[in-house]
Amino acid sequence: MRNPIIAGNWKMHKTIAEAKAFISEIQGEIKGTDVEVVLCAPFTLLRDMKLASEGTNIKLGAQNMHFEEKGAYTGEVSVLHLKEIGIDYVIIGHSERRQYFGETDESVNRKLLKAIGHGIRPILCVGETLEEREAGSTKDKVKLQVEKAFVGVPGESAADVVVAYEPIWAIGTGRSATSSDANEVIEYIRSIVEDLYSSEVSEKVRIQYGGSVNPDNVEQIMNEADIDGALVGGASLEPSSFLELVNF
Ligand code: 13P
Repeated sequence: MRNPIIAGNWKMHKTIAEAKAFISEIQGEIKGTDVEVVLCAPFTLLRDMKLASEGTNIKLGAQNMHFEEKGAYTGEVSVLHLKEIGIDYVIIGHSERRQYFGETDESVNRKLLKAIGHGIRPILCVGETLEEREAGSTKDKVKLQVEKAFVGVPGESAADVVVAYEPIWAIGTGRSATSSDANEVIEYIRSIVEDLYSSEVSEKVRIQYGGSVNPDNVEQIMNEADIDGALVGGASLEPSSFLELVNF
């Protein structure tokens, strides 16, 4: 039995005051007790959000971290910083980081290993471009991304990784994948995890869909057998809209 996980990825949005107001507006309004609710916010918001969310069932995530624990890496934030303030999750390998900030499958793997080593759960993002989809290479692309990300991850930790399948052409475009197309790729990702580990691990690992998820399509997406959650950008920014998502 996999608990659903709905995560908001706020990207480079919101102030501390807005984040605190958001938390006070949604707390107490989350209905399902089995749904895990995560807010992934810019680094400077997280400490205040942690204090504001104490005693609620809202969990917090960062949107990136460095692959070393400390050192001469000006401008970077390490897993120890996230751990110190009690962060639960970290998004790793979001397509925007791969596209604009030189994130590679190798750096994604190093970050994933570091997060796991410190008990912070990675949300590993994978997904194809429009050209790759049109060329019929979606599955080859995600297979490679998943296999490279999981190199060196021990079997007992593999199910702690949340995978987010985010087709790049569906991000921020209003053009979501159909729920059945998303489910097909996610089912395939589960089979890759089974090949890498075991059916026990693949049955446990949670796989989200991300890309133009909104209150109108979330229920259909969540009804798919292999889709365990959603990673949501735009529609996670308004408390009312985010509540509709977590209360799908
Ligand atoms: P949108 O929900 O705005 O399409 O963004 C998806 C995303 O990138 C979440 O990580």
